[in-house]
Amino acid sequence: MDEAAPIRDFEKLLRDTIGLSMETVGASVIRHALKRRMTACAIPDLHAYWAFVTGNPAERQELVDAVIVPETWFFRDREAFGAMVRHLRENRVGNRPLKLLSLPCSTGEEPYSIAMALLDAGFPDGSFQIDAIDVSSRNLVHAQRAIYGRNSFRGADIAFRNRYFEAAEGGFRPHDSVRRQVRFRLGNVLAAETQAGQDIYDVAFCRNLLIYFDRETQGAALVRLRQMLADDGLLLVGPAESGLPALCGFASVRFPRAFAFVKARAKPAKAAEPPVARKPRSAPAQTALLPRAQVASRPAPRPFERKPDPAQPSAPAPDRAAASLAEIERTADAGRLTELRAAAERHIAEFGPAPDAFYWLGLAHDAADATEDAMRNYRKALYLAPDHQRALAQLRLLQQRLGDHSGAKALADRLDRLAKRSGT
Ligand SMILES: C[S@@+](CC[C@H](N)C(=O)[O-])C[C@H]1O[C@@H](n2cnc3c(N)ncnc32)[C@H](O)[C@@H]1O
Repeated sequence: MDEAAPIRDFEKLLRDTIGLSMETVGASVIRHALKRRMTACAIPDLHAYWAFVTGNPAERQELVDAVIVPETWFFRDREAFGAMVRHLRENRVGNRPLKLLSLPCSTGEEPYSIAMALLDAGFPDGSFQIDAIDVSSRNLVHAQRAIYGRNSFRGADIAFRNRYFEAAEGGFRPHDSVRRQVRFRLGNVLAAETQAGQDIYDVAFCRNLLIYFDRETQGAALVRLRQMLADDGLLLVGPAESGLPALCGFASVRFPRAFAFVKARAKPAKAAEPPVARKPRSAPAQTALLPRAQVASRPAPRPFERKPDPAQPSAPAPDRAAASLAEIERTADAGRLTELRAAAERHIAEFGPAPDAFYWLGLAHDAADATEDAMRNYRKALYLAPDHQRALAQLRLLQQRLGDHSGAKALADRLDRLAKRSGT
């Protein structure tokens, strides 16, 4: 069976639905998601699964859930929350409730962090409201269940957990005082319905989403965010996305390491125009307002403290996949490049997409001067793990070699920030 054609159909479906760029993400991520869903549906044939997905919105949502990267944690890039507080203190006029947006909110850590930071800063209950939107219904179920394990609490400073969480079966749960500030709903940054309520936000967090889009889609998303933001509103993006807003009518606010932007006064640059050739995207499922959490006691507000919060992903369990990666590393150290490529490919086929495997694959291609393939694989590693330092460093060298000095500089800045954050 020729699988290439249907795979391309799936790629297009995912690009049209959620904006996922295959050049960034790579086909193996899609293949892996397809394998999981086909097994779950007991449909072994790709053509049959295509027919099933296209006629079944619920399964399309399952496929979206299988392909997205939910990676997030509380107070990720902590300076963003300090910038938000400072911006709101300096720009608040009158007493109307403030409106904040977390899009994408993933499993809820980001919007709950916004709530904690505002309560800490003395913004009273009821003085703000946070809309939290994501395209993954599975993530939203997790967000509303709101039970968080070790992986959601990273870095040295997790004092907020004592103040705002209670122990629950399977982890920790934010107090009602935090949960009731957040309103979750299913939505797609690229769909007109996401803006249906015509809500205008004082602050919009759109972090670690644009990196998965191609340039055109990044432009379309930023145009939409611009429309959703008040004239003096603040936009926060992820560290890897900090070069994008300036291309689309935003100006940097220069809060250190916050990646914060306001609307530029001048007319947006031409690159900011929404794409005209592409047909409008539709949300993968009906945009629904999900119930708010219930009210209970809340702790006394505390000033929001800005302290570094180095990201420290938890160590993987020593399992077969880890052993395979260790073996791949030994192969690389020994300079056995042909073997390296085969071993990394085998690893991905057996265990599914993994940042380290893509990194090694990129390195094998790089050493063989297959620049396009090398670049593609480094990017796949960064799709799965945006802070993968070795992939960032190699991609930077490659871009330098290719004469893309501004791209290389952006990656060097990103590496610097990572090094500062981890204190290396
Ligand atoms: C890596 S998480 C980022 C979460 C959080 N903003 C953070 O920075 O920690 C990416 C999220 O984007 C969501 N997503 C992907 N495409 C989307 C789209 N077109 N519209 C809304 N959410 C989307 C995914 O479901 C996933 O939860």
